[in-house]
Amino acid sequence: MLDGKRILLVIGGGIAAYKVLELIRRLREQNASLNVVMTRAAKQFVTPLSVASLSGGKVFDDLFSLTDETEIGHIQLSRAADLVVVAPATADLLAKMAQGLADDLAATLLLATDKKILVAPAMNLRMWLHPATQRNVATLQKDGVLFVGPEDGDMACGEYGPGRMSEPAAILAAVASAIEGDTRIALLPGIGRFDKPLAGRRVVVTSGPTHEPIDPVRYIGNRSSGRQGHAIAAAAAKAGAEVILVSGPVTLPDPPGVSTLHVETAIEMLAAVEAALPADIFIATAAVADWRVEAAASQKIKKSDTPPQFALAENPDILALVAQRTAGRPRLVVGFAAETDHILAHAREKLQRKHCDLIVANDVGDAMGKDENEITLIAPSGSEPWPKMRKDEIAARLVRHLAQMLKDRPDA
Ligand SMILES: Cc1cc2nc3c(=O)[nH]c(=O)nc-3n(C[C@H](O)[C@H](O)[C@H](O)COP(=O)(O)O)c2cc1C
Repeated sequence: MLDGKRILLVIGGGIAAYKVLELIRRLREQNASLNVVMTRAAKQFVTPLSVASLSGGKVFDDLFSLTDETEIGHIQLSRAADLVVVAPATADLLAKMAQGLADDLAATLLLATDKKILVAPAMNLRMWLHPATQRNVATLQKDGVLFVGPEDGDMACGEYGPGRMSEPAAILAAVASAIEGDTRIALLPGIGRFDKPLAGRRVVVTSGPTHEPIDPVRYIGNRSSGRQGHAIAAAAAKAGAEVILVSGPVTLPDPPGVSTLHVETAIEMLAAVEAALPADIFIATAAVADWRVEAAASQKIKKSDTPPQFALAENPDILALVAQRTAGRPRLVVGFAAETDHILAHAREKLQRKHCDLIVANDVGDAMGKDENEITLIAPSGSEPWPKMRKDEIAARLVRHLAQMLKDRPDA
């Protein structure tokens, strides 16, 4: 996708600069050609030598370097790119950009360029939420600067909130979409939004697989790890919600700040969900077995010459039962569609058939048991593809999205 594309990467002086080494590696894997500019502060966090070794080119840092000026020139450097990427975009760099300052090579290039600029902000949440930074962000958005992130997350300083730089994979996806002119994926920050957006809300989440017994030692199960559902429960709790997690058998610890109910079968999961309702939001991430053995054996089935035959019975469809409640239906019912083929078509069909408000569609092969996932949100009004991200990042962003959906509903 980035074959031969020329990226001018500006590295700012933030703690997240170390992640940019991984971004450089990924850009190079995609055959992008790179010119890199480091600010003076950036060199305190990563060395020009590491950057040059990974980028395969010269690192520029001095506006007044005679050699740079004769070889390439600062104006040419700013123009000879398909896209300018600033990562990490520090509060200082955003301020300089918003004001049109040009007091070093990075700021001068950012002012002199006639190309699209994509910034990946990274800073402490108080710096991000400061009215001055928010003013600068609003100015830059008005100027057409694209943003990827920042994300909510744990900060190096021990606080939690917005300000963490997006992961290299998400920045790479935003680079690709910015170059293609599709800016939907360049994720705009929610300005001044960090105020426990789910405070006072009750959220029920299901997670993990179910195990449907065949006999006391054997069961029908699936490969769901519960990572995505547990991450969503944790993110909803961090966003201020009271969270009840109904978990099938998983090897994960119970998330902090969440009431976790442990179940084994689909029937137990349904009973636990019904007991946990009412709720404002129900999120069904569990991979519930569609069938159970109608009459599980009470003793271990002995090996014999002929394999045993089982009659299967259909399990309750927990998502549909909750979505179709007439009394006590959660205001938002969210399902997950893990498919192997025709992912979006199946997910749209599931949205309609089960009467959900939102379906999160993903590819089973990409998602199950992995740390990252690539999802598409499917709502009655349309769909929204998200770049590949870690599951905890998806969880944080999904929670924010749901908080906004609740707020936008007339009955909220
Ligand atoms: C340990 C340390 C970490 C820092 N992390 C950040 C950060 O993540 N984001 C930020 O905006 N500033 C951060 N700063 C402050 C910047 O380094 C400082 O504002 C600097 O002038 C930014 O320069 P630049 O924008 O030209 O790179 C940090 C400073 C220190 C000492």
